[in-house]
Amino acid sequence: MNDLDSHDSIRAVLWRGDRLRLLDQRKLPFVEDYIDCTTAAQVAQAIRDLVVRGAPAIGISAAWGVVLAAQRGRDAVDAALPMLRAARPTAVNLMWALDRMQRRITEGADAPALEREAQQIQDEDLAANRHMGELGASLLGESVGVMTHCNTGSLATAGYGTALGVIRAGVGGGRISRVFAGETRPWLQGARLTMWELMRDGIPATLVSDSAAAHLMKSGQVQWVVVGADRIAANGDVANKIGTYQLAISARHHGVRFMVVAPASTVDMATVSGDDIEIEMRDSSELLAHSGQRTVVDGAVAWNPVFDVTPAGLIDAIVTERGVIEKPDASRMQAMFG
Ligand code: MRU
Repeated sequence: MNDLDSHDSIRAVLWRGDRLRLLDQRKLPFVEDYIDCTTAAQVAQAIRDLVVRGAPAIGISAAWGVVLAAQRGRDAVDAALPMLRAARPTAVNLMWALDRMQRRITEGADAPALEREAQQIQDEDLAANRHMGELGASLLGESVGVMTHCNTGSLATAGYGTALGVIRAGVGGGRISRVFAGETRPWLQGARLTMWELMRDGIPATLVSDSAAAHLMKSGQVQWVVVGADRIAANGDVANKIGTYQLAISARHHGVRFMVVAPASTVDMATVSGDDIEIEMRDSSELLAHSGQRTVVDGAVAWNPVFDVTPAGLIDAIVTERGVIEKPDASRMQAMFG
């Protein structure tokens, strides 16, 4: 624990007994609006539309979606499970949370028991993040500069965050003296969400365009890149927000170290390597327009993969709540998660 823990005030996924309240991340940073979901279909829609996003937060929300369905009966549950599972393909936390709820259903759990299970998933995520924060911060060294990508904070999790949890702990413990956040085109999770979280929690940070990353690393201001993950394969390959791979290449070229921070629920030992991970493709309008206003000439097309895979060989450390894997590979992954 450190002083900055008390600043971890943001909660994006709020259970209200008969509805799930989600902070609408499409509207941040200027509008703090919540939407209430009373059905699993609404939760699935909110996941698809990025009202709620970030691998752990998606999984937690899906678990609450199952509870909403269970309150309506068995048929609703049977319809909800495949619908929620299909909401987004890359973050395995979604499938992990649904598998866990499904196991409880198979055991005969009723709606109150499923509610307790979903709450446990949420509570465990927060506890994992706090633990990973300390583990990751202990690797950093003294007075370092860090760069992060996308949003991996309280908005993307049950609270505190994964990579952003390491940054919280590192700043709180005096190990980090500079934080840089990449803007994360096209959806701007870094600019809109990470900068908002850091400012709100009193952590000074500097925004850079994604294309400034190599130049920033060359300048010597950054010693670590710290990112989250959407799925970690059995050989240590990591799927994360598009742009992560080029950060890892650039980091290796400049002697900057590269840390991935994710709970065990992001590890998918059934996926042999990153090549087997489905990369979500989103609508080209996310690239061709900004805030609903077209920015590219009519008739132009765009290619919009929203995740990429960083090979294990470019990663210095994977931090989970179970411990740290340095220089990850299949045998080290197997030793911790087999
Ligand atoms: O498309 P998003 O915003 O859901 O993508 C989120 C990311 O890629 C995060 O880096 C990842 O989920 C880790 S969040 C703790």
